[in-house]
Amino acid sequence: MYSLFRKLLFLRDPESVHTSAVRSLSAAQSSAIGRATLRAIAGRIPEKPVELMGLRFRHRLGVAAGFDKDARCVLALQELGFAFVEVGTVTPRPQPGNPQPRLWRFPESEALVNALGFPGDGMEAVHARLVTLRASGRLRVPVGINLGKNADTPPEKTASDYLQVFRRLDEVGDYFVVNVSSPNTAGLRDLQAVERLRPLLCALAEMNAWRLKKPLLVKIAPDLPDDDLAAVGKLARELKLAGVVAGNTTLRRELAPRAAVIERGGLSGAPQFPRTQELLTILRRELSDEQALIAAGGLSTPERVRECLALGANLIQVYTPFIYLGPRCARRLLA
Ligand SMILES: Cc1cc2nc3c(=O)[nH]c(=O)nc-3n(C[C@H](O)[C@H](O)[C@H](O)COP(=O)(O)O)c2cc1C
Repeated sequence: MYSLFRKLLFLRDPESVHTSAVRSLSAAQSSAIGRATLRAIAGRIPEKPVELMGLRFRHRLGVAAGFDKDARCVLALQELGFAFVEVGTVTPRPQPGNPQPRLWRFPESEALVNALGFPGDGMEAVHARLVTLRASGRLRVPVGINLGKNADTPPEKTASDYLQVFRRLDEVGDYFVVNVSSPNTAGLRDLQAVERLRPLLCALAEMNAWRLKKPLLVKIAPDLPDDDLAAVGKLARELKLAGVVAGNTTLRRELAPRAAVIERGGLSGAPQFPRTQELLTILRRELSDEQALIAAGGLSTPERVRECLALGANLIQVYTPFIYLGPRCARRLLA
C-alpha cells in the first residue's frame, strides 16, 4: 500500500514532501481521532521494555535527529510506534539553513543526500512546544534533544551556543546529544578532534552537574578514521558521558554512485550500514557496559537491527529507512 503511495510522493520535491508530512502528522496528533488513526496505521508493536540512562523505553527503536527538527510532531511519532524521538538539531536562534535545493532522494540505493544546514525555529520555539507537549500528559516516550550551533556564530563562541541551548532546554528533554558531526555547517566536524571536543564536552558536563544531571551523549561522524573514533570513545568514557550516537551522515559518495552528482551534503540510508557496523564494533570496545551506544545509519531491515544489537548497540535510530518504509516502519523493523 505504502509502496504505491510512495511512488506518488516521490514525484514531488523531497523537502516539500517532508514539510507536508510533518504538517500532517502535527495536525493528526492534535485530535483523539487523529491519534487513533496513527495507531491503527502503525499496527501492533510488541513491547520489550528496557531501562537505559535512567529512562524507560518500550522497545529499542526510535526516530533519529533531523526528522522532527522543531518538535512539531513528537506525539504523532509516538503513536506510530517509535519508542523515543530525538528532536533537533536545535540552535540558539532561528535560522533558514542553506539555500534550496538541499535534499535529494536516491531510491535505487534507499539513500538520501541532505545539505540542510540546521534550518529551524530556534530554542525558544522548541522550548514552548515541549512545555505544551509535557503539560498535555500524553507523552509516554523519552524525548532526546540534539544540540547545535548557529551557522553565523564565530568559532570562538561555539561552546557558548551549545551551552545556551542545553541550559534553555534541559528541563524539557530526557537526554541530550552534542552534535559535532553534521557536514553542512562549516567547521562543525572539526570539533570532533579530541583536543577541541574535550573542552566543549567538559563545559557541558560541568554545567549539567550543577543543574539537572541529564544524560549527555555525543554524536559522531562515520567518516572519522578508526583511531579518531576510538579516541572519542575513550574521551566519552573518561568524561563519564551517558553514551555515544553512531553515527551521522557520510561524505562518501561512492556508496551510492548516482549521488556523486550532488557535491555538497551528507549521504544517509541503506548504503551506510557496513560502516555503521564498524562504528559499533570500535565504540563498544571503548565504552563501559553502563554507557549507551545508539546506532544510526542504514538500519533498513529487521536483520540489520538485530545485527546492530548483537554488536552491542543499546538503541536504534532511523531517519532514511522511515522515509522508504513508511508509517509502518517501526512494526516492519521490529518484526
Ligand atoms: C534530511 C536529514 C536531516 C538530518 N538532520 C540532522 C540533524 O539536524 N541533526 C543530526 O544530528 N542528524 C541529522 N541527520 C542525520 C540522522 O539523524 C542520521 O544520523 C543519519 O541520517 C543516518 O541514519 P539513517 O540512515 O537512518 O538516516 C539528518 C538526516 C537526514 C536524512
